[in-house]
Amino acid sequence: MPSNSPFSSGLIAGEAQFEALFEKAPDAIIVVGEDGRLIAANAAAETLFGYSRPELLELSVETLMPDRFREHHAHTRSAYMNSPRARPMKTGLELWGKGKDGKEIPLDIMLNPVRINDRHVVIATMRDMTMHRQMTAALIQSEKLAAIGQFAAGVVHDLNNPIGVILGFSQATLPSLQESDPVRNTLKTIEQEALRCKNLVRNLLSFSRNQKSELALQLQDLKDVVEAAMTLVGTMAHQRDVELDRQYEAELPPLMLDQAQIQQVVINLCVNAMDAMPTGGQLTVAIAKAGEEVCLSVGDTGTGIPPEIRQHIFDAFFTTKVEGKGTGLGLSLVSDIVKNHKGRIELDSEMGKGTTFKIYLKI
Ligand SMILES: Nc1ncnc2c1ncn2[C@@H]1O[C@H](COP(=O)(O)OP(=O)(O)OP(=O)(O)O)[C@@H](O)[C@H]1O
Ligand SMILES: [Mg+2]
Repeated sequence: MPSNSPFSSGLIAGEAQFEALFEKAPDAIIVVGEDGRLIAANAAAETLFGYSRPELLELSVETLMPDRFREHHAHTRSAYMNSPRARPMKTGLELWGKGKDGKEIPLDIMLNPVRINDRHVVIATMRDMTMHRQMTAALIQSEKLAAIGQFAAGVVHDLNNPIGVILGFSQATLPSLQESDPVRNTLKTIEQEALRCKNLVRNLLSFSRNQKSELALQLQDLKDVVEAAMTLVGTMAHQRDVELDRQYEAELPPLMLDQAQIQQVVINLCVNAMDAMPTGGQLTVAIAKAGEEVCLSVGDTGTGIPPEIRQHIFDAFFTTKVEGKGTGLGLSLVSDIVKNHKGRIELDSEMGKGTTFKIYLKI
């Protein structure tokens, strides 16, 4: 191309340089002939669809689409190309492509019909929208969660007092009743359900607080922090025929902890563990030094977690429990709190044998 080219200032001249620009364009570009075959494709198109260049140049454009669009596309393609009124598109089309591995790819596509050497061709410029879609979905999800958090904080705050009263009266009355008294079981159920509510209130309050991620860190002994949560856990374990076993290593370095939040981790893990042992079992809460970390583990001899749901259990509102029994917030809070403490979680679970959650906190 001469240096006085109307297309460039002269800095870019020559076919090879224009070819290099086409080749290096960040968007995938393909040129499609009238028969639907690909005449040209750049490197980004290879990456997008997973075909090599020679493979692409053997393909018809319909091969790059999911089956359900092919026939319709083949039909409209020739009409579009041959129409004297075909114009370049001003806005992108959201369409689906299909890679060599069979995976569908959400695409933003711009079409541009041109004539080259008397042949009708279409230049299609494409961008992979996978990331964009995921981010949009995540944003919607987090906005939803924030709204729920605010709502929950308001309602839950008002629930705290009445639940405290129910729990207080049932706990105060229980010791005065004979073992044989038929009212005892009723009252025990009231107490147990009130405890459940109390924990739910705690979770929801913390969930809304976590959105603002306030953390009150203090240097303290993990044992003391955990032990303070054990009163509640112990009461529940007793009611459910669960044997509670504590295994605390004697000498442990102090850690920077938010006491209320770590207690919540303990309670949530223990409540889950007990829920997994409906006919009783053993709950083991252990604290031990592990290299440069301290490990807090909560183990049960319950149902185990099916492998196919393990990747979801930390999602907010994921629950397998019947309505009214679980909100699915427990482990999502555990995971947030552990993250806030720069810790990590490990999970061991075997179906029919039990589950152990291990929380590692840096010393
Ligand atoms: N120790 C465990 N044994 C078996 N399954 C578990 C265990 N811990 C968690 N799960 C599974 O993970 C799911 C999510 O747990 P999570 O604590 O987040 O919610 P939840 O217990 O269902 O409800 P919530 O804690 O809000 O009352 C549970 O519904 C259950 O299926
Ligand atoms: Mg739970």
